[in-house]
Amino acid sequence: LTPERYPVQRLPFSTVSEEDLAAFERIIPGRVITDPEQLEACNVDWLRALRGCSKVLLRPQTSEEVSQILRHCHKRNLAVNPQGGNTGMVGGSVPVFDEVILSTALMNQVISFHDVSGILVCQAGCVLEELSHYVQERDFIMPLDLGAKGSCHIGGNVATNAGGLRFLRYGSLRGTVLGLEVVLADGTILNCLTSLRKDNTGYDLKQLFIGSEGTLGIITAVSILCPPRPKAVNVAFLGCPGFTEVLQTFSTCKGMLGEILSAFEFMDSECMQLVGQHLHLTNPVQESPFYVLVETSGSCAGHDAEKLTNVLEKVLNSGLVSDGTMATDQRKVQMLWALRERITEALSRDGYVFKYDISLPVERLYDLVIDLRTRLGPRAKHVVGYGHLGDGNLHLNVTAEAFSQELLTALEPYVYAWTAEQRGSVSAEHGLGFKKKNVLGYSKPPVAVKLMQQLKALLDPKGILNPYKTLPAQA
Ligand code: FAD
Ligand code: MLT
Ligand code: ZN
Repeated sequence: LTPERYPVQRLPFSTVSEEDLAAFERIIPGRVITDPEQLEACNVDWLRALRGCSKVLLRPQTSEEVSQILRHCHKRNLAVNPQGGNTGMVGGSVPVFDEVILSTALMNQVISFHDVSGILVCQAGCVLEELSHYVQERDFIMPLDLGAKGSCHIGGNVATNAGGLRFLRYGSLRGTVLGLEVVLADGTILNCLTSLRKDNTGYDLKQLFIGSEGTLGIITAVSILCPPRPKAVNVAFLGCPGFTEVLQTFSTCKGMLGEILSAFEFMDSECMQLVGQHLHLTNPVQESPFYVLVETSGSCAGHDAEKLTNVLEKVLNSGLVSDGTMATDQRKVQMLWALRERITEALSRDGYVFKYDISLPVERLYDLVIDLRTRLGPRAKHVVGYGHLGDGNLHLNVTAEAFSQELLTALEPYVYAWTAEQRGSVSAEHGLGFKKKNVLGYSKPPVAVKLMQQLKALLDPKGILNPYKTLPAQA
């Protein structure tokens, strides 16, 4: 559980003293946690692969409190680890050593919602699923959705620039986030919490913080554009005989469903086996080498169902799909989505997980999975591929009974070099965090990496915000 396998040395930050604790207690009375039992969960990441040893967890409720905390930490040279729902996949959310954990869990208030524009303004610690319910009651939806919705915070989503299951239709948070409030490393509050659709006044500073994984500032509030709630949602779950057929099914769906296509996800047969084995989910169609989940979201139930039925007829008749099922009622829609959304959970129950999240040209999306099965042989328990095919995003996961240096050496840098050769991205949506900070160079040129380091130095000259994360250590 310790980061021993990652060579990293503690930087010369101060250590939290009794005086620091007293200062924190003055800023957020009763919300300074030092009980080791309560600290345990915040020191360990979701994948249970990393463990920090922070001695203090701070739970502010307001931006002003975050500002005072950072002002103190900056003055005292104390390192700070911002934490949302702690569902991140790359170890960015947990301390590496004894960084102060600053949690947004109590910053969970909706500030405003406009039911004409669909613009929601809320604190960073609002749980995504709770926001979903809030806006759905007002006939809107959140522009993003992910399997971690029950725990992740909107601030964490923005900090990681999470992609997820609605990206195909509603795009990136870089488009839907309209404004942010951020507390900078020295405690300055940067208020860019506008709710304008168009604003070309100077540089778009909020973009710096979207996807910056807590290394440039702490996001305290978010203004986000919510699309209207679709009146009709249909889901089809299909079995395909090969990956070529998966791709052709995707082309068919794009061509025939047009603007109502809202998700195109895929998983292979090993994923299906794992959700069956570990979560007891039942495969609703005939066993196949690949499965795809197609979702439509539109405004006319009859019209949308007819369009999807036409697609199904076509792909079944042409042999692109060997079996399929369709759902319109919410219970079955959720049941079909669970097969795809819960793969992460099933994998985590299978053993140690080596996780890769890559962007590739869609035609080559599955090649690496096949290649790795041969390369790793029986050393791996499972090599699986699933993900957001519609966005060219493969989740390649390898499980083993336990962590193995030999497997790691077989996987890295091989996977990264392979991806770079295809001009892909070594992190499509999870970020770099602690585990992947040293592979940034596979996807970005040295000039870009240097500029990122300069920006970090400008915004956080003492390097107190989420040290050891996102950027490779400077030579
Ligand atoms: P955390 O895990 O707490 O933090 C993540 C990073 O953001 C850390 O570096 C942290 O320091 C920083 N951070 C957190 N809050 C703030 C803040 N307020 N200000 C500044 N920095 C902050 N990701 C996808 O992109 N797509 C998916 O489909 C997807 N599905 C997932 C499914 C499951 C089951 C799980 C467990 C994870 C999934 N993820 C997915 C990973 C994803 O990154 C997170 O779920 C989510 O975006 C992180 O939010 P969080 O609140 O848990 O942040
Ligand atoms: C997903 O799409 O399921 C998430 O990104 C999590 C994962 O990669 O396992
Ligand atoms: Zn994903």
